[in-house]
Amino acid sequence: MDKIKLGIIGAGRIGKLHVDNLKNLKNVEIKSISDIFVDNIKEWAEQNGIQVITDNYMNIINDPEINAVFICSPTDTHVQIIKDAAKAGKHIFCEKPISFSLEQTVQLLETLRQSKVKFQTGFNRRFDHNMSRVQELVSQGKVGDPHILKITSRDPAPPHKEYIKNCGGLFIDMSIHDFDIARFVIGSEVEEVYVQGAVLVDPVFAEFNDIDTAIISLKFKNGALGVIDNSRQAHYYDQRVEVFGSKGCVTIQNDFPNSAELSTADGVQKDKPLYFFLERYNTAYINEVQAFIEAILNDTPVLVNQNDGFQAELIAHAAKLSYLEKRPVRIEEITNRLVNITI
Ligand SMILES: NC(=O)c1ccc[n+]([C@@H]2O[C@H](COP(=O)([O-])OP(=O)(O)OC[C@H]3O[C@@H](n4cnc5c(N)ncnc54)[C@H](O)[C@@H]3O)[C@@H](O)[C@H]2O)c1
Repeated sequence: MDKIKLGIIGAGRIGKLHVDNLKNLKNVEIKSISDIFVDNIKEWAEQNGIQVITDNYMNIINDPEINAVFICSPTDTHVQIIKDAAKAGKHIFCEKPISFSLEQTVQLLETLRQSKVKFQTGFNRRFDHNMSRVQELVSQGKVGDPHILKITSRDPAPPHKEYIKNCGGLFIDMSIHDFDIARFVIGSEVEEVYVQGAVLVDPVFAEFNDIDTAIISLKFKNGALGVIDNSRQAHYYDQRVEVFGSKGCVTIQNDFPNSAELSTADGVQKDKPLYFFLERYNTAYINEVQAFIEAILNDTPVLVNQNDGFQAELIAHAAKLSYLEKRPVRIEEITNRLVNITI
C-alpha cells in the first residue's frame, strides 16, 4: 500500500486538528468525513478538499476504498464505531478514552484481537518531545531504578458545563493522559492507587458528582511511587514531570512560546507557558498521526495500542473508587470485577 485513504468520524475540536495535521502528510488522502451536524462542517470540509461529507459514519465504514478511520466523536460513541470499523477491517485510530465502561473496553480488546486491524489510542503526550525524552532516559537507566515520579498536570481553565456533564469525570477525561504517561515513563504497571479529591475551582463540578482538583498517589509493580496533581484551573497550562531514581533525576518543565525574560527593578518576568493542549502538544499530535500512518504503511505495531488504552482506564476506575470510598484501591480489585470477561 503506498497511499492510505482515510475517513474521519467526528469533526469537532480534535477531529479538525487531526485533519489539519493529516492533510500535510504524503501517502495520505482524507477521502471522507462524517459528523452528525454535517451542515456545520460542509464548507470547512470542502475547503480541505474532502470528497465525501456525510452525517452517517457507516458510509465511511462501508466504503471499500477506505483503509483506516479516525474516531474523533464523543467518547460515548466510540464502542459502536470501533465494533463497526473492526468488523469492516478498517485500521483504527481512536481518541482517548476508548470507552467509559471497562466491561466494554475489555470486550473490544477481544473484537480487535480477532479482527487483526491496527488500533492506536490517542495518547498524544507520548509523542511530545519532552515526555519522550524522559521515557528514553529512564529506560536507558540514566536515573537508575526509578523511585519517585511526580506529574503536575493542570489545565488553564475548566471546560464548559455541557462538557463537564458528559466527559465521564476528572479521572477518565483528564487524568487518563497522566496515567498513560506514568506507565510510559516508569515502564511498569500501576499496582495501587489512592486519591484525595476536592471541588475547589467551581461548584458546577459537584452538580455532576465530579471534582476539579486531585492528588493521586500511585504505587507501581516495580516498587516505584508516584504522585499526580491535577487541577482544572491553573490560569496557565502546567505540565511538568520528574522521575527521581537511584542514580539521578530527570525533570521537564513547561514549554514557553519564547525564552525572553524581562528583568527590571520590579523583578523578573516572562510570558506564560503555551496556552493549552492544542498549543502545548501541537507537535505531539502531528507525530502521533504520522506514527499511525507509518505503522499501517510498514505493517509494524502501533506505538500506543488498545492495551495501553485499557490499562489507563483501569487506573482511572481505581482512582474513582478510591476517591468515592476514601481508601487505597489495588488495580487487581478492579480486574477481579471483570472475572467473567477474558482479559
Ligand atoms: N487526545 C486529546 O488530547 C484529546 C483532546 C480533546 C478531546 N479528546 C477526545 O476526543 C473525543 C472528541 O472530543 P472533542 O473535544 O473533539 O469533542 P467535540 O464535541 O468538539 O467534537 C465531537 C464531534 O463529533 C460529532 N459527533 C457526535 N456524534 C457523532 C457520530 N455518531 N458520528 C460522527 N460525528 C459525531 C459532534 O457533532 C462533534 O462535532 C473525545 O473522546 C475526547 O475525550 C482527546
